[in-house]
Amino acid sequence: MTLRYSYTLFAPVYDALVAPFTAAMRRRSLAPLQEEPHDEVLLVGIGSGLDIPLLPRGPRYTGLDLTPAMLGRARRKAAASKSEIRLDVGDARHLPYGDAMFDAVVLHLILAVTPHPGQVLAEAARVSRRGGQILILDKFLRPGQTAPLRRLISPLLGLLATRTDVVFERVLAQVPGLEVASDQPALAGGWFRQIVLRKSVA
Ligand SMILES: C[S@@+](CC[C@H](N)C(=O)[O-])C[C@H]1O[C@@H](n2cnc3c(N)ncnc32)[C@H](O)[C@@H]1O
Repeated sequence: MTLRYSYTLFAPVYDALVAPFTAAMRRRSLAPLQEEPHDEVLLVGIGSGLDIPLLPRGPRYTGLDLTPAMLGRARRKAAASKSEIRLDVGDARHLPYGDAMFDAVVLHLILAVTPHPGQVLAEAARVSRRGGQILILDKFLRPGQTAPLRRLISPLLGLLATRTDVVFERVLAQVPGLEVASDQPALAGGWFRQIVLRKSVA
């Protein structure tokens, strides 16, 4: 609930603060959507919809977020988009969608935000079809990385906006049936990473 309150406060300034430093890496992270055909794409924690203007035309899109004030901003971008975009209020830990409904799931700046990244990734995997992609863009520590300042500020910052101590490999280890297709540094010396997972076909 705390995150809902803080993102309600951030909503009016979120785009001005976040868009400038994320635009290029968002574009790169979303590129796989153009590389193979998709019918249904889900954006979990879509927030104010900064990804919306960058989405390729063709698929049907669904966006979900906990914070109505952020979704209100996403709605304006969706109205200006030529793509079909449905927006739902909901919790990424309990997605209100059936198994294997989506060809791709976008997790931009959500796995390090939520206190429950394993549960959120497991839900993304559940709603992905076999062979489907999960596109992740976020800030993660490497296993064994000390990063004392980021670990120190994470408990407080995590209540307000985002954690800074999430180790991606530990999150991935909680969710069976996902393979890493690519993992590349995106910004800030590799603190931000763009990662493509594929749900196993077996
Ligand atoms: C840092 S913003 C990222 C927004 C957007 N994905 C982007 O890339 O700009 C994090 C978003 O996650 C949402 N959020 C946090 N916890 C959530 C949860 N459990 N379920 C759904 N959305 C959540 C917040 O409301 C906020 O809009």
